[in-house]
Amino acid sequence: APAPPLTFVIFGAAGDLTRRLLIPTLINMTRSGLVGEDLHILGVGIETGGVDMLLGRLEAFLKTSGDMDDPQRQAAWQSLSKRISYISGDFTQNGVYKQIADYLSNAPSANAAFYFAVPPQFFGDIAEKLSENGLMNEATGAFRRIAIEKPFGHDLASAQALNARLLNHVHESQIYRIDHFLGKETVQNIMTTRFANMMIEALWNNNYIDHVQITAAELVDVGTRGKFYDATGALRDMVPNHLFQLLAMVAMEPPNSFDAESIRNEKGKVLKALRAYSREEAAQNGVRGAYTAGPIAGRDLPAFTQTPDVSPDSNTETFVALKLLVDTWRWAGVPFYLRTGKAMKARDTEVVITFRQVPFAQFPRHGTQPELPPNRLIIQVQPDEGLDMEISIKSPGLVLKTAPVSLDFRYADNFDIGKQTGYESLFYELFVGDQTLFQRADGIEAGWAAVQPFLDLWAEGGKPDPYAPGSSGPASADELIERDGRKWHQIDGAASGKRV
Ligand code: BG6
Repeated sequence: APAPPLTFVIFGAAGDLTRRLLIPTLINMTRSGLVGEDLHILGVGIETGGVDMLLGRLEAFLKTSGDMDDPQRQAAWQSLSKRISYISGDFTQNGVYKQIADYLSNAPSANAAFYFAVPPQFFGDIAEKLSENGLMNEATGAFRRIAIEKPFGHDLASAQALNARLLNHVHESQIYRIDHFLGKETVQNIMTTRFANMMIEALWNNNYIDHVQITAAELVDVGTRGKFYDATGALRDMVPNHLFQLLAMVAMEPPNSFDAESIRNEKGKVLKALRAYSREEAAQNGVRGAYTAGPIAGRDLPAFTQTPDVSPDSNTETFVALKLLVDTWRWAGVPFYLRTGKAMKARDTEVVITFRQVPFAQFPRHGTQPELPPNRLIIQVQPDEGLDMEISIKSPGLVLKTAPVSLDFRYADNFDIGKQTGYESLFYELFVGDQTLFQRADGIEAGWAAVQPFLDLWAEGGKPDPYAPGSSGPASADELIERDGRKWHQIDGAASGKRV
């Protein structure tokens, strides 16, 4: 069913995020019928001019981005663009909010979702002004919601301060904190894979699982994002948000129901169970790296510290690897190894579950055949989206010999997931009022609490370990896992190297 009638108010409407992401998402949703003709868009921005200025900017972008190549999307844009309005003004001043209130009181529906496509330091100010101007009041029965996207603070204290400020003005049920990883089909599928399949979930505990690896390797380098990235680093950029969402999906208990609160309660419990490391434990269980200069993807990449807008003596990390423990009955003794980095060998986001050895391997060892390889379940988040199960079979022939094989499912072979931005499901849930795919204040804070020991330790000084562009990260990351007698899964942008 299409979303209910509403006005989607975009703060920062003339900016890059709106044309690159928000508008293409709304076009896709219009095209597929997720929103109807009763969706109205109100852009708000500091840029002077009327709606023609905004439409001009949006269209100039859509023409070059390829968004208009498909006639159906072109038609969707034709329809959508007629329902866009614009208010020019400074969102730190009350005047704009009066105009928004005027607009909404004359709109066909008083429902509104406010999207903050502005730098994060303004999140608190805008929420405060919306509330002070009566715009968050739901007493008339219309809904009023805000949507914000990370960063939610830069450490535990600032995340707590932001949450406290938001919650001072807006109810938790009105706040939609976006983590775009939750918009990915393959991420949403983790819960289904587990809870719809006995043969998977029955083994999903420390009796059968040896360890879990979560990798988000990127081929892209820091590029033009030097200013943002030097102040942020790989840990803050990826771990307490995206990687912890994956971890929570993997480690959560089955919720009693699939409603938002039940799911968010279970995910929150996992994040709160992440072991709080001492300074020494953080030093033992965390590794940071920064890429050096070198060739990657057919060109010469300057070192991270030579990137525009990055301080030459920066000690910001572009790679991080952590060993974390989830202190629960189910996961006691099962390490979770996490890693993410820029300018690596390939784009490869995956969760690898490695099972324990069979209790007794009576198979004869033949020549160089190594021990039985453990079973693995590989959730390939991107690219080459799919799910692979690695098992051992008898290799055909007279001699009893085992061979590893992979049972693999690829989305592309079975479904058409089409050209999507990944935000379609997030916006739809925002419009219909389902918070399942959004983060709650307690989960955000639990995530920051778990990474705070590493932030504190690395703030003391020292340098990240060097790694070559196009590699799998610094040698210290290999040491982190190899001292436990384990190995990282190869980074190759595909689920399995074991096709036979
Ligand atoms: C963003 C980070 O949140 O996620 C980026 O700020 C990162 O640095 C991106 O590249 C990764 O997302 P995806 O969807 O490309 O895996």
